[in-house]
Amino acid sequence: MRDLNKLPSQPLNLFASNGVNKSYSSTSNISVSSISTGDESVFDPYCVEGNPQKITCEDVTSAAFKIKSGIINTPCARSRLSDSMGMELYLKKDFLQTTGSFKERGARYALLMLSDEQKRNGVISASLGNHALALCYHGAKLGIPVTVVMPAVAPIMKIAACKQHGATVVVQGSDMGEAKQNAMQIGKEKGLVYINGYDHPHIMAGQGTLGLEVVEQVPDIDAVVVPVGGGGLIAGVALAIKTLHPHVKVIGVESHRCASFTAARAAGRPTYTPIESTLADGLAVPMVGYNAFVTADPLIDKLVVVKEEWIAIAILKLVENEKCIVEGAGATGLAAILAGQLDELKGKRKMVGIRQGVAILEKQRSMGVVVLRQSFHPEFARHSVVVSGRRYVTTRNEV
Ligand SMILES: Cc1ncc(COP(=O)(O)O)c(C=O)c1O
Repeated sequence: MRDLNKLPSQPLNLFASNGVNKSYSSTSNISVSSISTGDESVFDPYCVEGNPQKITCEDVTSAAFKIKSGIINTPCARSRLSDSMGMELYLKKDFLQTTGSFKERGARYALLMLSDEQKRNGVISASLGNHALALCYHGAKLGIPVTVVMPAVAPIMKIAACKQHGATVVVQGSDMGEAKQNAMQIGKEKGLVYINGYDHPHIMAGQGTLGLEVVEQVPDIDAVVVPVGGGGLIAGVALAIKTLHPHVKVIGVESHRCASFTAARAAGRPTYTPIESTLADGLAVPMVGYNAFVTADPLIDKLVVVKEEWIAIAILKLVENEKCIVEGAGATGLAAILAGQLDELKGKRKMVGIRQGVAILEKQRSMGVVVLRQSFHPEFARHSVVVSGRRYVTTRNEV
């Protein structure tokens, strides 16, 4: 395992380790990382535009070994939705992690990989919620001080939960971009390691352990469907699954209100993408990570952008059929199936993200998505949901 703690004095070139040698421009549009604090030395040495780092499958297996004792091996069970959809559907229920998300995997691994001195000083990060919660929880478990900077738009319940874990919680910045710059500034002043929630190499490796579990739990997968925010989850999962089973299709899903990976693909590099308020707030990242992009981009077979309304419908379907309450980000994979955007997988198996979890599905008959859409659209088209005090309303004409 590489010692990434030696960065930045000795930047490691992980770039060629996967055999893909695309070149990425070092001049970008306005980006979150380039928002200036006036201090040129405030930057994240683990996530550098001009030196993107790829992780390897060995990084993921190493992470799996190290985090095993502190992470729940969550079930990946056949879904009750299988029958109604004419599909074999398996859901990886990573919302059953203690803090409710897969983010614990990467957070624990990143904390375990710190040097002793770094562990003593502590870490800092900016997050809308799930990564912050995961860091705070595992920081408390491992005795490592954690500071999180959460933007004002972060869900109130998640801010409160971070405080309950004894972390230092700073609510600052109107969005993730500002929160991140504030966090890096504080980190520099106080000597704390900044841990990017989707782009730090150890974070990506940790998230990839979810992919290792899935291929152990369900044999003969044809495809996996993974929600995409900053790209860390899909980078780790795609790497693990494609290395072990290269024929498995990896499909990413974004909300149309924050399709930053789609924008990055179009631009050939991570690029700033204006985002709107979304039910999938966990995915609301205006620019995907540099490391996540170079790792995941060559491995993603298809990337779909799903409308918000289908995310609302997917949340309801999961409540009704699975008795699972998941946040929008976790329902985004199922939303793409319900919306009929993955119909080419009929007769095959697939995996669907469910609140940082994943599911696998095999369509046995060719009915499914279109029929579903007709049946359920009128019923749910005007559904409104309140999440952390904010109301999201779906409208018929947008579906
Ligand atoms: C529920 C859920 N699923 C998926 C993701 C996407 O993860 P990433 O940002 O690593 O792409 C997130 C991010 O927070 C999330 O909260």
